[in-house]
Amino acid sequence: MSKWLDNAIFYEIYPQSFNDTNGDGIGDIKGIIEKLDYIRELGCNAIWLNPCFASPFGDAGYDVSDYYSVAPRYGTNEDLKLLFEETHRRNMHIILDLVPGHTSTEHKWFKESMRAEKNKYTDRYVWTDSIWEEPQGMSCLRGISDRDGSCAVNFFSHQPALNYGFYKPEPDKKWQQSMDDEGPRATLCEMKNIMRFWLGMGCDGFRVDMAGSLVKHDEDGKGTIKLWQNVREFLDREFPDAAMVSEWGEPDKALQGGFHMDFLLHFGPSHYNDLFRCAEPYFSSRGKGDISEFVKKYKENYEKSQGKGLICIPSGNHDMDRLARHIHDDELKIAFAFLLSMPGAPFIYYGDEIGMNYVENLVSVEGGYGRTGSRSPMQWDSSTNAGFSSASSEKLYIPLDKRPNRPTVSAQADDKSSLYNEIKHLIAVRQSHNALKSKGKIEFIYAEKDSYPFAYIRSMENEKILVVINPSGKAASFEFSCTLRECIYSFGTEISADNGKITAAPQSAGFYKIR
Ligand code: NOJ
Repeated sequence: MSKWLDNAIFYEIYPQSFNDTNGDGIGDIKGIIEKLDYIRELGCNAIWLNPCFASPFGDAGYDVSDYYSVAPRYGTNEDLKLLFEETHRRNMHIILDLVPGHTSTEHKWFKESMRAEKNKYTDRYVWTDSIWEEPQGMSCLRGISDRDGSCAVNFFSHQPALNYGFYKPEPDKKWQQSMDDEGPRATLCEMKNIMRFWLGMGCDGFRVDMAGSLVKHDEDGKGTIKLWQNVREFLDREFPDAAMVSEWGEPDKALQGGFHMDFLLHFGPSHYNDLFRCAEPYFSSRGKGDISEFVKKYKENYEKSQGKGLICIPSGNHDMDRLARHIHDDELKIAFAFLLSMPGAPFIYYGDEIGMNYVENLVSVEGGYGRTGSRSPMQWDSSTNAGFSSASSEKLYIPLDKRPNRPTVSAQADDKSSLYNEIKHLIAVRQSHNALKSKGKIEFIYAEKDSYPFAYIRSMENEKILVVINPSGKAASFEFSCTLRECIYSFGTEISADNGKITAAPQSAGFYKIR
């Protein structure tokens, strides 16, 4: 596995909204290069860049029209190459967002595949044999082509599904191809060419969009796992250091497929939402949350993933509500004490480090719908447009958070007690203790139903660190005997350990070396 993942801390950049250097109201690659020192200064040493390829932007770039070209609004392929170089020059890494499941309807492959005459792209997408037959279990596009057939779509109706075959094609449905048929093999081969192109140019790997749904009618994921194992062999041969992170939401399956890491997400069986995004989040000071189901699921995944790869828990992403929509102030700091002391590489969504909020009531932009409010421009300082762009405010791609007290990087950098500085400190603590890094083991000590605090031990070789987290506004204790040797991090009042009992003060978090 790529060694650099052992201590990677990712920063997710949504390129549209990060930093605009040419005053057109939308972020660009030069803008990212300009802010690399900022990201490194925070302590992040890896970047996940959301899609930056040519696209009609009906789904923020998850509708690619040319996998080999950077979208002109972000710059050129040369600019992206320079971003790779500048990232590496700072000892950082960068992964791109690969969208292998579907393209835009504007992609030339799709236009060719719509033709009635057979051609090289006829089998590139999942088409039925007749307009009157729909691909069962999937939405589809119908009546838009000379070709007599319906085409399956993966997400929005302008995202036709690429054809990687069916796990078990039904014999009476000739249009369902097997994974070994020529069309599906050609699709996979082209996806590898795309990966080869960008890895060859210097990118360090991919976050893979909807990685678990490529092979159709594949309930247990067996076909899709096999497909990714094939990709892993290719990478091991040609790009052994490339990192692969999946949007699958089921680490057990993703890691079998050869991914290095899989995310726990707002969908799927992980109970991730219990932490920050539900009516009573565990990290709220109200103290009415429940972490036990999350931990139960985490343990199951953790056991299955041992020796195979990592599980990552993101602070958020471009598809979820901002963390700061649900929890605030000290609650956010305590949430990050958790996020930055768990195994797997942490992922910080741009702006979460300053507690950027969800912008309410925005009109949807580029297929964002309810997600648009989590994609607003980065708030750098108190200058025009919060330092994001020199365009007039109506020209901004998404309106800024207009609240007068909106957080900014410059204000928080100067304030010792800010969220930004707390996170920076937490990252430094993590990076100076192997037990806290991605591969350090975790053992849960206290994670009871409807109860606080939450405690676990991280360990690596001789180093053992007890983490105690109490987001609630009340002191909370549990029975546990150990000798505390040294406090390496604390937020709020330090814990007390007496007579086999540990008590955590209201709204506190602490990391302690133990024997
Ligand atoms: C998941 C991506 O994160 C999301 O933004 C996108 O809309 C869908 N996949 C479709 O590609």
